[in-house]
Amino acid sequence: MIKYLGSKRTLIPALTELGRASGAKTALDLFTGTTRVAQAFKRIGITVTASDVASYAECFAKTWIEIDASQTNQLELTLALAELSALPGKAGYFTEKFCLEARFFQPRNGERIDAIRERIESDYRDTWLYYPLLTSLLLAADRVDSTTGIQMAYLKSWASRSGKQLELRDPELIPGAGFSIRGDALAVAKDLPAVDLAYLDPPYNQHRYFGNYHIWESLVRWDKPETYGIANKRIDARDSSMKSPFNSKKTMPSALAQLVSELNCETMVLSYNNESWLSRSDLLDIASTRGHVEILDFDFKRYVGSQIGVFNKAGLRVGVPGARRNIEHVVIAGERSTVKRMIASVEQ
Ligand SMILES: C[S@@+](CC[C@H](N)C(=O)[O-])C[C@H]1O[C@@H](n2cnc3c(N)ncnc32)[C@H](O)[C@@H]1O
Repeated sequence: MIKYLGSKRTLIPALTELGRASGAKTALDLFTGTTRVAQAFKRIGITVTASDVASYAECFAKTWIEIDASQTNQLELTLALAELSALPGKAGYFTEKFCLEARFFQPRNGERIDAIRERIESDYRDTWLYYPLLTSLLLAADRVDSTTGIQMAYLKSWASRSGKQLELRDPELIPGAGFSIRGDALAVAKDLPAVDLAYLDPPYNQHRYFGNYHIWESLVRWDKPETYGIANKRIDARDSSMKSPFNSKKTMPSALAQLVSELNCETMVLSYNNESWLSRSDLLDIASTRGHVEILDFDFKRYVGSQIGVFNKAGLRVGVPGARRNIEHVVIAGERSTVKRMIASVEQ
């Protein structure tokens, strides 16, 4: 999985329990990002639809959510990865933009990324291998980048991991059914078929994912756009059409309220962070349009000694916390008995 702002890595055990306890057969992960949450639901047998506005998120969703590993020929994927791994490097757009003009990757890795990406386009575009191979390349590039995790800037001196050799690995497909969609949450939500469980994890602040992960966007689209600035961002990152209503303090509350009211689901789970613009009571107000609401709080610092006793082993708040730096709220809304059952599943 790539390094990703707001990724729900530490919440996966709890979200898995919530998914299981909800009894859902179908689910939606509407801001899927790395697809971690959709993957967790798929692994417990739920048919998931994963959606996001980013092209790289769609690539992950087509790989890990849409493909049913039990219906594929693993040998074909292994052979394709071996063929791509053996290609000699050949400098092109990626090397020029992200290794020489901006120093996000060391040139010898950039040259291999160029060669592999061109070959994926020319030889695999119309095959089932296209997205798994692209995912493998993205993950390999992420392991040798020279950033702090976002692509707004590169490090002044090379990160030590950037000196390692680019290595394509098997993306490890998942058995089961699923779907992927790319689009703005507000545009796609109302036309989606009904699901049992909807999970929402919108952006928390003004930082736009499109600019923070512009290299992944360009590597997937392979449209070789003009770039600007020291980070060589895509020229369309300047476009106002690329702004999400979820990235503005002014527009986010009404966008979220609209989205929550339009969702066609039985139960809704919404992740939110206490460092963002909505207060706990705003969240309650927005979610209460969907029925009974309860909020779980998770503290990512739960293993720090001074906080023991306030949170149980699952990271769930069991006492009254003092001022905390980073609390992840998980809002659950829906039919009362379902919400109660879900809460009980993580409180055990
Ligand atoms: C907090 S992250 C989600 C992280 C994800 N749950 C994970 O664990 O990887 C928010 C996601 O919302 C997406 N996003 C931002 N604005 C959006 C919009 N208007 N419609 C759909 N997705 C959007 C971003 O591309 C980003 O992937």
